Amino acid sequence: MSEKETYPYKYIKTIRLKDGTIVKLRPIKPEDEPLMLELFKTFSPETIKFRFFLPLREITHEDLVRYCNVDYKNEIAIVAEIKEDNDNKKRLIGVARLIRDRDEKNRAEFAVVVGDPWQGKGLGLKLTRYIMNVAKDMGISEIYSRVMKNNTRSLLLSKKLGFERKDIGLEYLINKRIG
Ligand SMILES: CC(C)(COP(=O)(O)OP(=O)(O)OC[C@H]1O[C@@H](n2cnc3c(N)ncnc32)[C@H](O)[C@@H]1OP(=O)(O)O)[C@@H](O)C(=O)NCCC(=O)NCCS
Repeated sequence: MSEKETYPYKYIKTIRLKDGTIVKLRPIKPEDEPLMLELFKTFSPETIKFRFFLPLREITHEDLVRYCNVDYKNEIAIVAEIKEDNDNKKRLIGVARLIRDRDEKNRAEFAVVVGDPWQGKGLGLKLTRYIMNVAKDMGISEIYSRVMKNNTRSLLLSKKLGFERKDIGLEYLINKRIG
């Protein structure tokens, strides 16, 4: 099937951040690879550790190809795109990903990350709410994520959205029924 046939256009939405920035939320696509690389470069070591649970210094080409090529059925990523004021250049400032469990098709793991320069403007909250709606639309009734215990911001955010939290040792497992 061609990209035109599988790309879920219905998940495109324009939102506005607290500071007035206009942001387009849309499903990721294969051509996003260079934009994703640029986004990765805006992550601080702490953001990388909180999102990937590893102190990654570089992202490989293979990883980028994998991140940008999803089937939109069992895996989807929603990117947040802005156009920069000075030259209208497109830039990705955050991404939320959802991966359906292999054995329990109505459950999915999710992860959200916002580039450091754009954190604290409400995007993380909006992206998480949005991926929850997308998950519902995909027939998912429960979403979960792992969060490091010192990731205060993410834990506050999940509390605000009504997630339950379970201590699983080094991390918390947060989950919410959405069906
Ligand atoms: C967690 C993350 C996605 C949140 O995104 P964000 O855009 O910075 O968060 P928001 O601006 O939407 O803030 C959400 C809530 O976090 C809290 N928060 C925001 N800024 C904060 C700060 N500087 N210090 C502490 N808490 C803060 C607030 O409760 C806020 O809600 P409010 O603005 O209504 O008061 C982002 O910080 C990030 O990418 N972190 C690294 C990756 C990660 O931890 N991902 C989650 C695990 S997969």
